[in-house]
Amino acid sequence: MTYTSRIGKKRKRERLLNLKGQLAPWTGREDVLDVGCGRGLMMVGAARRLTSGKAVGIDLWREEDQAENTPEAALENARLEGVADRVSIETGDARALPFANASFDVVLSHWVIHNIPEAADRARALDEMMRVLRPSGVLVLADIANKSEYEAHLRTQGLANIREVTGGLEAQIAGILSGGAFKPQALVGIKT
Ligand SMILES: C[S@@+](CC[C@H](N)C(=O)[O-])C[C@H]1O[C@@H](n2cnc3c(N)ncnc32)[C@H](O)[C@@H]1O
Repeated sequence: MTYTSRIGKKRKRERLLNLKGQLAPWTGREDVLDVGCGRGLMMVGAARRLTSGKAVGIDLWREEDQAENTPEAALENARLEGVADRVSIETGDARALPFANASFDVVLSHWVIHNIPEAADRARALDEMMRVLRPSGVLVLADIANKSEYEAHLRTQGLANIREVTGGLEAQIAGILSGGAFKPQALVGIKT
């Protein structure tokens, strides 16, 4: 990864994490889950905002979705950003999260759910994110497709105060270059 793309990804990560702060200010005590954490981009960014809170990353480690996405890589990235003491990694499927109901204050997922081919399975993954989120918890869901599908489903599951965020100029250019196939957008909302 080039220096510039690393900087760009971190900038985007901070923008998404700021959106959570706009709905409910970060306290540093949050329990955070990053679904499909890959090499740990969002998990590590969230952990940087925590004091007593913890960030958990979970993934199936599908190589076809991201190169070198391993638990070791995610933990190494946490170490490089000085937050190894605040993160942990699990292996599991977004469609059957191995966590109790209402375990997290914040659930993040960045560019993951479009990898699940069937709409019913994508809905299950969204249901799981809502299940493990505490009431008044915040969901930040960013993906490159299916925004309307996600939003409609999440409303039925009690996500409120939904804000939609487009990916800015960079995303518009990517969308044009891909003939409209690649549409980075994010949804942020609060569980009622
Ligand atoms: C494009 S990568 C994004 C990784 C990371 N969120 C980021 O933004 O850098 C997609 C990730 O989703 C994971 N993934 C795909 N399907 C999954 C599923 N059903 N459950 C959990 N993780 C999944 C892949 O293994 C991969 O690490």
